[in-house]
Amino acid sequence: MIKIITIADIHCGKNSLTKRGDTALSLLDEFNLFVDKEKPDLIIDLGDRINDIDKKNDIILQKEIFKKLNENKIKTYHICGNHDVVNLTVKENEEIFNQSLENEVILLDNFKILLWRADAKTYRTDDFFGFKINEMDFIWLNNEVMNSKVPVIIFSHVPISPASLIGNYYFQNNPSFGSYPNSSRLRNSICKASMPVFFLSGHVHWNSFSQEDGITYLTQQSLTESFSNFGKPAKSWGQISLDNKFLWKVYGDEPIEISLDIKKRNSITPLGSFSNLNQDLRAK
Ligand SMILES: [Fe+2]
Repeated sequence: MIKIITIADIHCGKNSLTKRGDTALSLLDEFNLFVDKEKPDLIIDLGDRINDIDKKNDIILQKEIFKKLNENKIKTYHICGNHDVVNLTVKENEEIFNQSLENEVILLDNFKILLWRADAKTYRTDDFFGFKINEMDFIWLNNEVMNSKVPVIIFSHVPISPASLIGNYYFQNNPSFGSYPNSSRLRNSICKASMPVFFLSGHVHWNSFSQEDGITYLTQQSLTESFSNFGKPAKSWGQISLDNKFLWKVYGDEPIEISLDIKKRNSITPLGSFSNLNQDLRAK
């Protein structure tokens, strides 16, 4: 069995709106105890490690995260979130975390793990405000999914999930910031994969599960988010176990558990519009 521990939106630093950055480092101590007990194959940090301030302070905060996560013995793969690249470049993050932060494939037993490190920066000009999706990132993801002969598990910071954002403190009134632009184009493309595909992201600060055209989309709650926990941090981290099932379990004050069979996809052509069917079929 493969075990992957996931942590999202640590947001270390001064508190910002409902993000309880002041609790991040002590919660990471608890996280490290969990890691030591579970001994996963790897850890994936889904990004937004800090509450950004300015370049000098952001470097200090990122280094604190690096030091703290190094206290466990398991390799952590990092993905940058939008707050990690407000004042720092991806290259500066690479130097702090001593690893490449480009898109990456990890082959583990009979599974393909994709770290989709698409641009998570929010751009602001006179006529544009939001995320941009780089065509090369789209092509890379699509090729890796479509060419896979084994089940695929994708990790990113920003989701492409079709899940509703109604009720979300940050994104109900800002839905275009809750996923990549044109996410439906990506979903319509990877849904043609022959292998099972599971896609886990951070960013939206709550747990969600949705499926579209046979693909499973998940988002994981932030470690320190408090908007849905009466002002207290959610203390969330997750674990994915892979064998003949895909099991995603989120711990903390907002637990969720999703267990799905991993089986070859059964694609069908949906029935046409009811109004075009003859009377006999309508009766059925
Ligand atoms: Fe975040």
